[in-house]
Amino acid sequence: MKEELIAKAKTVLEGNFQEGGFTIPSKGLYPFQWKWDSGFIALGFAHYDMDKAKMEIVTLLQAQWENGFIPHIVFHTDSDTYFPGPDFHESHLHQASQAAYPSTGMTQPPVFGFVLEHLLRIATDKTDMLQFIDTHIDKIYHNHQYFYENRDVNGDGLVYIYHNWESGTDNSPVWDDIWETMNPPEYTFERRDTTHVDASQRPTKREYDHYLHIIEIAKKYKYDDAHIAAHSPFLVLDPLFNAMLIKSNESLIELYTALGRGRNEIDQLKAWQERSIASLNTKLYNPSLKAYVHYDLRNDRQLPYICSSSFAPLYTPAPDKTRVKELIQTMLDKFGGAERYLCASFDPTHANFNPKKYWRGPVWINMNWIIHHGLKKQGQDFLAERVKEDSLELIA
Ligand code: DGY
Repeated sequence: MKEELIAKAKTVLEGNFQEGGFTIPSKGLYPFQWKWDSGFIALGFAHYDMDKAKMEIVTLLQAQWENGFIPHIVFHTDSDTYFPGPDFHESHLHQASQAAYPSTGMTQPPVFGFVLEHLLRIATDKTDMLQFIDTHIDKIYHNHQYFYENRDVNGDGLVYIYHNWESGTDNSPVWDDIWETMNPPEYTFERRDTTHVDASQRPTKREYDHYLHIIEIAKKYKYDDAHIAAHSPFLVLDPLFNAMLIKSNESLIELYTALGRGRNEIDQLKAWQERSIASLNTKLYNPSLKAYVHYDLRNDRQLPYICSSSFAPLYTPAPDKTRVKELIQTMLDKFGGAERYLCASFDPTHANFNPKKYWRGPVWINMNWIIHHGLKKQGQDFLAERVKEDSLELIA
Protein backbone atom coordinates (compact mmCIF):
# COMPACT_ATOMS: atom_id res chain seq x y z
CA MET A 1 0.00 0.00 0.00
CA LYS A 2 2.83 2.37 0.86
CA GLU A 3 4.37 2.11 -2.62
CA GLU A 4 1.02 2.78 -4.21
CA LEU A 5 0.42 5.83 -2.02
CA ILE A 6 3.83 7.24 -2.84
CA ALA A 7 3.24 6.73 -6.56
CA LYS A 8 -0.10 8.53 -6.32
CA ALA A 9 1.41 11.37 -4.28
CA LYS A 10 4.05 11.83 -6.99
CA THR A 11 1.34 11.93 -9.65
CA VAL A 12 -0.40 14.74 -7.75
CA LEU A 13 2.81 16.73 -7.35
CA GLU A 14 3.82 16.28 -10.99
CA GLY A 15 0.33 17.18 -12.13
CA ASN A 16 0.43 20.40 -10.10
CA PHE A 17 3.95 21.38 -11.23
CA GLN A 18 3.82 24.32 -13.65
CA GLU A 19 6.07 25.31 -16.52
CA GLY A 20 7.29 28.40 -14.66
CA GLY A 21 9.02 26.16 -12.11
CA PHE A 22 6.51 26.34 -9.27
CA THR A 23 3.74 24.07 -8.01
CA ILE A 24 0.11 24.94 -7.38
CA PRO A 25 -1.50 23.64 -4.17
CA SER A 26 -4.65 22.37 -5.85
CA LYS A 27 -5.90 22.23 -9.44
CA GLY A 28 -8.83 24.54 -10.08
CA LEU A 29 -9.16 25.89 -6.56
CA TYR A 30 -5.66 27.32 -6.02
CA PRO A 31 -4.03 28.00 -9.42
CA PHE A 32 -0.97 30.04 -8.31
CA GLN A 33 2.02 29.66 -5.99
CA TRP A 34 1.13 29.80 -2.28
CA LYS A 35 3.85 30.51 0.25
CA TRP A 36 3.54 27.90 2.98
CA ASP A 37 2.18 25.29 0.62
CA SER A 38 5.39 25.69 -1.40
CA GLY A 39 7.41 24.88 1.71
CA PHE A 40 5.60 21.58 2.17
CA ILE A 41 5.63 20.88 -1.57
CA ALA A 42 9.43 21.30 -1.53
CA LEU A 43 9.60 18.70 1.27
CA GLY A 44 7.60 16.28 -0.88
CA PHE A 45 9.80 16.78 -3.95
CA ALA A 46 12.95 16.46 -1.82
CA HIS A 47 12.27 12.74 -1.41
CA TYR A 48 12.65 12.03 -5.12
CA ASP A 49 13.54 15.14 -7.13
CA MET A 50 15.76 17.58 -5.26
CA ASP A 51 16.07 19.92 -8.26
CA LYS A 52 12.33 20.54 -8.18
CA ALA A 53 12.44 21.03 -4.39
CA LYS A 54 15.06 23.74 -4.84
CA MET A 55 13.23 25.29 -7.78
CA GLU A 56 10.07 25.64 -5.68
CA ILE A 57 11.97 27.75 -3.17
CA VAL A 58 13.81 29.76 -5.81
CA THR A 59 10.63 30.73 -7.67
CA LEU A 60 8.98 31.83 -4.44
CA LEU A 61 11.98 33.87 -3.29
CA GLN A 62 12.09 35.67 -6.63
CA ALA A 63 8.95 37.42 -5.48
CA GLN A 64 10.37 38.44 -2.07
CA TRP A 65 10.00 42.19 -1.53
CA GLU A 66 12.96 44.51 -0.93
CA ASN A 67 12.01 44.75 2.76
CA GLY A 68 12.24 40.98 3.28
CA PHE A 69 8.48 40.32 3.10
CA ILE A 70 7.41 37.12 1.26
CA PRO A 71 3.86 37.23 -0.14
CA HIS A 72 1.21 34.60 0.46
CA ILE A 73 0.35 34.21 -3.23
CA VAL A 74 2.62 34.89 -6.20
CA PHE A 75 0.64 35.35 -9.42
CA HIS A 76 3.30 33.99 -11.80
CA THR A 77 0.70 33.35 -14.49
CA ASP A 78 -2.77 34.57 -15.44
CA SER A 79 -5.82 32.60 -14.44
CA ASP A 80 -9.42 33.67 -14.26
CA THR A 81 -10.42 30.76 -12.07
CA TYR A 82 -9.50 32.47 -8.77
CA PHE A 83 -10.90 35.42 -6.86
CA PRO A 84 -9.48 37.78 -5.57
CA GLY A 85 -6.70 37.94 -8.15
CA PRO A 86 -3.79 40.35 -8.73
CA ASP A 87 -6.05 43.21 -9.85
CA PHE A 88 -7.78 43.17 -6.49
CA HIS A 89 -4.67 42.78 -4.34
CA GLU A 90 -2.58 45.44 -6.17
CA SER A 91 0.74 44.61 -4.50
CA HIS A 92 2.38 47.38 -6.55
CA LEU A 93 0.94 49.82 -4.01
CA HIS A 94 3.80 48.93 -1.66
CA GLN A 95 7.05 50.60 -2.67
CA ALA A 96 9.18 47.56 -1.80
CA SER A 97 7.11 45.07 -3.84
CA GLN A 98 8.50 43.33 -6.94
CA ALA A 99 7.06 44.87 -10.10
CA ALA A 100 7.82 41.71 -12.09
CA TYR A 101 5.95 39.47 -9.62
CA PRO A 102 2.40 40.58 -8.88
CA SER A 103 1.39 39.11 -5.53
CA THR A 104 -0.82 39.60 -2.54
CA GLY A 105 0.17 42.10 0.15
CA MET A 106 -0.21 39.56 2.92
CA THR A 107 1.97 36.68 4.00
CA GLN A 108 1.74 33.17 5.50
CA PRO A 109 3.52 31.19 8.26
CA PRO A 110 7.35 31.39 8.05
CA VAL A 111 8.19 27.76 7.36
CA PHE A 112 11.33 28.12 5.23
CA GLY A 113 13.91 27.96 8.02
CA PHE A 114 12.84 24.46 8.98
CA VAL A 115 12.12 23.48 5.37
CA LEU A 116 15.79 24.15 4.57
CA GLU A 117 16.81 22.14 7.63
CA HIS A 118 14.75 19.17 6.40
CA LEU A 119 16.11 19.47 2.86
CA LEU A 120 19.62 19.12 4.31
CA ARG A 121 18.55 16.09 6.33
CA ILE A 122 16.92 14.43 3.30
CA ALA A 123 19.63 15.32 0.74
CA THR A 124 22.10 12.60 -0.22
CA ASP A 125 24.53 15.19 -1.62
CA LYS A 126 25.07 17.27 1.53
CA THR A 127 27.76 19.49 -0.04
CA ASP A 128 25.45 20.49 -2.85
CA MET A 129 22.59 21.18 -0.44
CA LEU A 130 24.80 23.24 1.88
CA GLN A 131 25.76 25.31 -1.14
CA PHE A 132 22.10 25.86 -1.97
CA ILE A 133 21.40 26.84 1.63
CA ASP A 134 24.40 29.18 1.62
CA THR A 135 22.92 31.00 -1.39
CA HIS A 136 19.43 31.38 0.08
CA ILE A 137 19.65 31.46 3.86
CA ASP A 138 20.19 35.22 4.11
CA LYS A 139 16.89 35.81 2.32
CA ILE A 140 15.08 33.74 4.92
CA TYR A 141 16.92 35.59 7.68
CA HIS A 142 15.86 38.88 6.05
CA ASN A 143 12.28 37.62 6.14
CA HIS A 144 12.52 37.01 9.90
CA GLN A 145 14.09 40.44 10.33
CA TYR A 146 11.12 41.91 8.46
CA PHE A 147 8.75 40.26 10.95
CA TYR A 148 10.58 41.37 14.08
CA GLU A 149 11.14 44.91 12.84
CA ASN A 150 7.66 45.53 11.45
CA ARG A 151 5.17 43.22 13.11
CA ASP A 152 6.27 42.94 16.70
CA VAL A 153 4.20 45.92 17.85
CA ASN A 154 4.74 45.40 21.57
CA GLY A 155 8.42 44.52 21.28
CA ASP A 156 7.78 41.25 23.11
CA GLY A 157 8.91 38.91 20.35
CA LEU A 158 5.42 37.97 19.09
CA VAL A 159 4.49 39.05 15.56
CA TYR A 160 0.97 39.86 14.40
CA ILE A 161 -1.05 38.73 11.43
CA TYR A 162 -3.56 41.17 9.98
CA HIS A 163 -5.73 38.82 7.93
CA ASN A 164 -7.13 35.33 8.43
CA TRP A 165 -5.48 34.28 5.16
CA GLU A 166 -2.09 35.05 6.75
CA SER A 167 -2.71 32.42 9.41
CA GLY A 168 -2.91 29.50 6.97
CA THR A 169 -5.99 28.38 8.91
CA ASP A 170 -8.24 30.52 6.71
CA ASN A 171 -11.69 29.63 7.87
CA SER A 172 -11.20 28.76 11.54
CA PRO A 173 -14.08 29.46 13.98
CA VAL A 174 -11.47 31.40 15.99
CA TRP A 175 -12.00 34.30 13.56
CA ASP A 176 -15.76 34.44 14.23
CA ASP A 177 -15.10 36.59 17.30
CA ILE A 178 -13.24 39.11 15.16
CA TRP A 179 -15.99 39.19 12.51
CA GLU A 180 -18.41 40.12 15.30
CA THR A 181 -16.42 43.31 15.90
CA MET A 182 -16.66 44.32 12.21
CA ASN A 183 -19.41 45.53 9.93
CA PRO A 184 -17.99 45.67 6.41
CA PRO A 185 -19.95 46.87 3.36
CA GLU A 186 -21.65 44.28 1.15
CA TYR A 187 -19.21 43.86 -1.74
CA THR A 188 -20.28 42.78 -5.19
CA PHE A 189 -18.00 40.13 -6.66
CA GLU A 190 -18.03 36.77 -8.31
CA ARG A 191 -16.79 33.89 -6.17
CA ARG A 192 -14.66 31.34 -8.04
CA ASP A 193 -13.89 28.89 -5.24
CA THR A 194 -17.43 27.51 -5.14
CA THR A 195 -17.16 26.60 -8.83
CA HIS A 196 -14.57 24.00 -7.81
CA VAL A 197 -15.62 22.99 -4.31
CA ASP A 198 -18.98 22.28 -2.71
CA ALA A 199 -20.17 25.57 -1.18
CA SER A 200 -20.99 23.80 2.09
CA GLN A 201 -17.24 23.30 2.58
CA ARG A 202 -16.32 26.93 1.91
CA PRO A 203 -16.78 30.28 3.70
CA THR A 204 -20.00 32.28 3.35
CA LYS A 205 -20.50 35.44 1.26
CA ARG A 206 -20.52 37.53 4.44
CA GLU A 207 -17.21 36.01 5.51
CA TYR A 208 -15.74 37.00 2.13
CA ASP A 209 -16.99 40.58 2.76
CA HIS A 210 -14.85 40.58 5.92
CA TYR A 211 -11.83 39.21 4.06
CA LEU A 212 -12.10 41.81 1.29
CA HIS A 213 -12.72 44.66 3.70
CA ILE A 214 -9.46 44.05 5.56
CA ILE A 215 -7.58 44.03 2.25
CA GLU A 216 -9.26 47.31 1.24
CA ILE A 217 -8.05 48.89 4.49
CA ALA A 218 -4.50 47.59 3.95
CA LYS A 219 -4.58 48.92 0.37
CA LYS A 220 -5.78 52.31 1.54
CA TYR A 221 -2.49 52.50 3.48
CA LYS A 222 -0.48 51.03 0.58
CA TYR A 223 0.25 47.93 2.66
CA ASP A 224 2.31 49.97 5.10
CA ASP A 225 2.88 47.84 8.20
CA ALA A 226 2.68 50.64 10.76
CA HIS A 227 -0.62 51.87 9.33
CA ILE A 228 -2.01 48.35 9.17
CA ALA A 229 -1.05 47.85 12.82
CA ALA A 230 -2.86 51.07 13.69
CA HIS A 231 -6.00 50.54 11.61
CA SER A 232 -6.67 46.90 10.77
CA PRO A 233 -9.72 45.54 12.63
CA PHE A 234 -7.97 42.16 12.44
CA LEU A 235 -4.70 42.17 14.42
CA VAL A 236 -3.93 38.83 15.97
CA LEU A 237 -1.05 36.97 17.62
CA ASP A 238 -1.36 33.46 16.25
CA PRO A 239 0.22 30.47 18.06
CA LEU A 240 0.85 28.59 14.80
CA PHE A 241 2.41 31.57 13.03
CA ASN A 242 4.65 32.42 15.97
CA ALA A 243 5.56 28.77 16.54
CA MET A 244 6.66 28.49 12.91
CA LEU A 245 8.80 31.61 13.36
CA ILE A 246 10.40 30.19 16.51
CA LYS A 247 10.99 26.78 14.93
CA SER A 248 12.51 28.44 11.86
CA ASN A 249 14.72 30.65 14.08
CA GLU A 250 16.04 27.47 15.66
CA SER A 251 16.70 25.93 12.24
CA LEU A 252 18.44 29.05 10.93
CA ILE A 253 20.77 29.04 13.95
CA GLU A 254 21.62 25.41 13.22
CA LEU A 255 22.14 26.01 9.51
CA TYR A 256 24.34 29.09 9.94
CA THR A 257 26.39 27.01 12.39
CA ALA A 258 26.68 24.19 9.85
CA LEU A 259 27.82 26.72 7.23
CA GLY A 260 30.39 28.14 9.64
CA ARG A 261 29.28 31.74 9.11
CA GLY A 262 26.67 34.28 10.23
CA ARG A 263 27.86 35.08 13.76
CA ASN A 264 25.90 38.33 13.93
CA GLU A 265 22.82 36.65 12.51
CA ILE A 266 23.08 33.84 15.05
CA ASP A 267 23.39 36.35 17.93
CA GLN A 268 20.36 38.26 16.67
CA LEU A 269 18.32 35.08 16.15
CA LYS A 270 19.11 33.97 19.71
CA ALA A 271 18.01 37.33 21.10
CA TRP A 272 14.71 37.20 19.14
CA GLN A 273 14.23 33.60 20.14
CA GLU A 274 14.52 34.27 23.85
CA ARG A 275 11.86 36.99 23.76
CA SER A 276 9.53 35.05 21.47
CA ILE A 277 9.62 31.92 23.59
CA ALA A 278 8.99 33.79 26.84
CA SER A 279 6.02 35.69 25.41
CA LEU A 280 4.53 32.68 23.63
CA ASN A 281 4.46 30.95 27.03
CA THR A 282 2.92 33.87 28.89
CA LYS A 283 0.66 35.67 26.44
CA LEU A 284 -0.51 32.78 24.28
CA TYR A 285 -0.87 30.00 26.83
CA ASN A 286 -4.24 29.47 28.46
CA PRO A 287 -3.77 27.50 31.71
CA SER A 288 -7.46 26.60 32.10
CA LEU A 289 -7.77 25.29 28.55
CA LYS A 290 -4.30 23.78 28.84
CA ALA A 291 -3.46 24.89 25.32
CA TYR A 292 -1.86 27.69 23.32
CA VAL A 293 -4.51 30.08 21.96
CA HIS A 294 -4.79 33.19 19.78
CA TYR A 295 -4.59 36.74 21.12
CA ASP A 296 -6.71 39.54 19.66
CA LEU A 297 -4.49 42.64 19.89
CA ARG A 298 -7.17 45.04 18.68
CA ASN A 299 -9.51 44.12 21.54
CA ASP A 300 -6.83 43.05 24.01
CA ARG A 301 -8.12 39.56 24.82
CA GLN A 302 -7.26 35.92 24.37
CA LEU A 303 -9.54 34.02 21.98
CA PRO A 304 -10.27 30.95 24.09
CA TYR A 305 -10.49 28.18 21.48
CA ILE A 306 -8.47 25.04 20.96
CA CYS A 307 -7.57 24.17 17.39
CA SER A 308 -4.76 22.30 15.64
CA SER A 309 -2.67 25.51 15.81
CA SER A 310 -2.76 25.14 19.61
CA PHE A 311 -0.37 22.19 19.30
CA ALA A 312 2.11 23.74 16.84
CA PRO A 313 4.38 25.00 19.68
CA LEU A 314 5.24 21.33 20.36
CA TYR A 315 7.54 21.73 17.36
CA THR A 316 9.53 24.44 19.17
CA PRO A 317 11.69 24.59 22.29
CA ALA A 318 8.96 26.70 24.00
CA PRO A 319 6.89 24.26 26.09
CA ASP A 320 8.53 22.77 29.18
CA LYS A 321 7.82 19.21 30.35
CA THR A 322 4.67 20.21 32.27
CA ARG A 323 3.27 22.11 29.30
CA VAL A 324 4.04 19.21 26.96
CA LYS A 325 2.12 16.90 29.28
CA GLU A 326 -0.82 19.30 29.45
CA LEU A 327 -0.93 19.75 25.67
CA ILE A 328 -0.94 16.02 25.10
CA GLN A 329 -3.69 15.52 27.64
CA THR A 330 -5.77 18.19 25.87
CA MET A 331 -5.11 16.56 22.50
CA LEU A 332 -6.11 13.12 23.73
CA ASP A 333 -9.15 14.27 25.73
CA LYS A 334 -10.69 16.54 23.11
CA PHE A 335 -9.30 15.45 19.73
CA GLY A 336 -8.19 11.89 20.21
CA GLY A 337 -11.14 9.60 21.00
CA ALA A 338 -10.82 6.06 19.64
CA GLU A 339 -13.43 6.86 16.97
CA ARG A 340 -11.47 9.88 15.71
CA TYR A 341 -8.51 10.50 13.46
CA LEU A 342 -5.90 12.88 14.83
CA CYS A 343 -5.83 15.78 14.53
CA ALA A 344 -9.01 17.73 13.77
CA SER A 345 -8.40 21.36 12.80
CA PHE A 346 -10.86 22.55 15.46
CA ASP A 347 -11.96 21.27 18.87
CA PRO A 348 -14.39 18.39 18.15
CA THR A 349 -16.08 18.91 21.54
CA HIS A 350 -16.97 22.54 20.72
CA ALA A 351 -20.38 23.59 19.39
CA ASN A 352 -18.72 25.33 16.40
CA PHE A 353 -16.97 22.16 15.23
CA ASN A 354 -17.96 21.30 11.66
CA PRO A 355 -16.37 18.18 10.15
CA LYS A 356 -17.08 19.28 6.55
CA LYS A 357 -16.18 22.95 6.44
CA TYR A 358 -12.54 23.69 5.83
CA TRP A 359 -10.51 24.59 8.93
CA ARG A 360 -13.61 24.23 11.12
CA GLY A 361 -13.00 20.51 11.70
CA PRO A 362 -11.40 18.56 8.85
CA VAL A 363 -7.87 17.26 9.39
CA TRP A 364 -5.33 19.37 7.50
CA ILE A 365 -2.35 17.31 6.42
CA ASN A 366 0.31 20.04 6.76
CA MET A 367 -0.77 20.51 10.36
CA ASN A 368 -0.45 16.78 10.97
CA TRP A 369 3.10 16.93 9.59
CA ILE A 370 3.91 19.73 12.06
CA ILE A 371 2.23 17.94 14.97
CA HIS A 372 3.93 14.64 14.12
CA HIS A 373 7.36 16.29 14.13
CA GLY A 374 6.44 18.27 17.24
CA LEU A 375 5.53 15.11 19.14
CA LYS A 376 8.75 13.47 18.02
CA LYS A 377 10.75 16.50 19.11
CA GLN A 378 9.19 16.16 22.57
CA GLY A 379 10.00 12.43 22.75
CA GLN A 380 6.34 11.39 22.33
CA ASP A 381 7.09 8.76 19.72
CA PHE A 382 3.99 6.66 20.33
CA LEU A 383 1.54 9.49 19.72
CA ALA A 384 3.69 10.82 16.86
CA GLU A 385 3.30 7.44 15.19
CA ARG A 386 -0.47 7.55 15.64
CA VAL A 387 -0.65 10.95 13.91
CA LYS A 388 1.43 9.56 11.05
CA GLU A 389 -0.65 6.39 10.70
CA ASP A 390 -3.88 8.38 10.86
CA SER A 391 -2.60 10.71 8.15
CA LEU A 392 -1.64 7.87 5.84
CA GLU A 393 -4.99 6.17 6.35
CA LEU A 394 -6.88 9.39 5.64
CA ILE A 395 -4.93 10.04 2.47
CA ALA A 396 -5.42 6.46 1.32
C1 DGY B 1 -8.22 31.41 -0.33
O1 DGY B 1 -8.90 30.54 0.27
O2 DGY B 1 -8.50 31.81 -1.44
C2 DGY B 1 -6.99 31.97 0.32
O3 DGY B 1 -6.21 32.69 -0.57
C3 DGY B 1 -6.17 30.90 0.91
O4 DGY B 1 -4.90 31.32 1.23
